[in-house]
Order: sequence, then structure tokens, then C-alpha cells
Amino acid sequence: MTEWQAISLFITFEGIDGCGKSTQAGLLSEYLSRQYGSEKVLWTREPGGWPGSSCLREMLLSGELDHPWTEVFLFLADRCEHAKKIIEPTLLTGAHVLCERYDDSTLAYQVWGRGLDLGKVESAISLCGHRSPDKTILLEVSMETALKRASARSRPDRYEKEGKPFLERVREGYRFLQSREKDRFIVIDGESSPEVVFKRIFDSLEEFF
Ligand code: TMP
Repeated sequence: MTEWQAISLFITFEGIDGCGKSTQAGLLSEYLSRQYGSEKVLWTREPGGWPGSSCLREMLLSGELDHPWTEVFLFLADRCEHAKKIIEPTLLTGAHVLCERYDDSTLAYQVWGRGLDLGKVESAISLCGHRSPDKTILLEVSMETALKRASARSRPDRYEKEGKPFLERVREGYRFLQSREKDRFIVIDGESSPEVVFKRIFDSLEEFF
């Protein structure tokens, strides 16, 4: 049994809107399902990764919230339930969990994007006490690529509507977070075709396969 099969990994996918994380999480999920069986991998996302959470996702993406701390509390409430109901029990079964967005999104978007205090948001996150990811794939794309991809979606969400300056700040936030935890973050150039980007991700995780 390889190391990858023996341990379950919690891998998160991060990056600005339009970075391609859903495509890449999907490709990795497909690969792992083929390789080890579909029961050995869970592909999920935030916000809205647990049954009954679609109303929270809708509220968070609708753009109707005015107070920036409302967002933080709702994203964290969503994560507490997601971690407790889905992520942690799945990891205990020995399956790998691939999750689009997690604590790093709250830091990059609510601290750098919205301008909330880093220490305060980190304290709120640590109050929740959920498990940290083992590895985080940070997909880096140019602002032009990100906005082009994001605007091609059926429904632009509130962040996509905020446009370039907001996403520039979020990107800066991700760079800071990555520089602080180089062992956890894997930075991937997300500019090429999905297949080429997936190969980069695959190569970077090879030691676990
Ligand atoms: P997505 O599912 O298409 O990535 O959209 C989710 C949006 O929510 C995206 O713009 C990032 C944002 N977000 C935050 O601002 N904070 C968070 O903690 C999370 C999980 C997402």
C-alpha cells in the first residue's frame, strides 16, 4: 500500500474567482476515483457543501449583506457544519477530501478584500476549532484570465461584480498567506489548458501517489 492510499489527505483548492479551481478539483477527484474507487474521495466546496446549506450559499453570494462581519460569521457557520457533518467524518473513513475554498478564502476575501483586521478574523476562525488542510493548491492566474472566466459564468456573484481592485487585493492576500506557510501551500500556474494545469498539480502531489 502506498503512503497515499494509507493516509487520508485533506486538500483545499484556493484562488481568486475564475482561477479554475472547480475544474481542477474535479479532475483530481476523477483521477483518484478511477485509481482507488469513488468511496475513497470526496469533492466538496464552500460555501454550501452540506445538505441544507444552499440557502446560506445563496445569501452569501446574493450581495444583499451590508455588514462585513455578517459575511464572516455566515462563512464560518457554514464551515463549522461542513467540517462537522462532512469533512471530518469522511477523513475518518480513510477517504481523501478535496474542498474548494476554506479558511484561506475567509482570510484573503474578508481581510484583504473587505479590509477586516487579520488578527480578529484569525481569532474567529480559531474559535471554530476545525481541522486545517494538509495541502492547499493555490491556482495563480492573471487578472484578465480570471475576469474573463468568471464573467463567462451564468450568474456573476457579488465578488465578480466587485471587479478588479477587489480581486487584486484578494490575490495579494493569498500571496501573503502562502509566504507564511510554504509547506502547506502548493502554488500552481493556472494559465494553461485544464489538462496542462492538472499535470502540474499531479506532479506536485506525486510524492503522495
Ligand atoms: P465560488 O464558489 O464560485 O468560489 O464562489 C464563492 C465566493 O465566496 C467567492 O467569491 C469567494 C467567496 N468566499 C469568501 O469571500 N469567503 C469565504 O470564506 C469563502 C468560503 C468564499
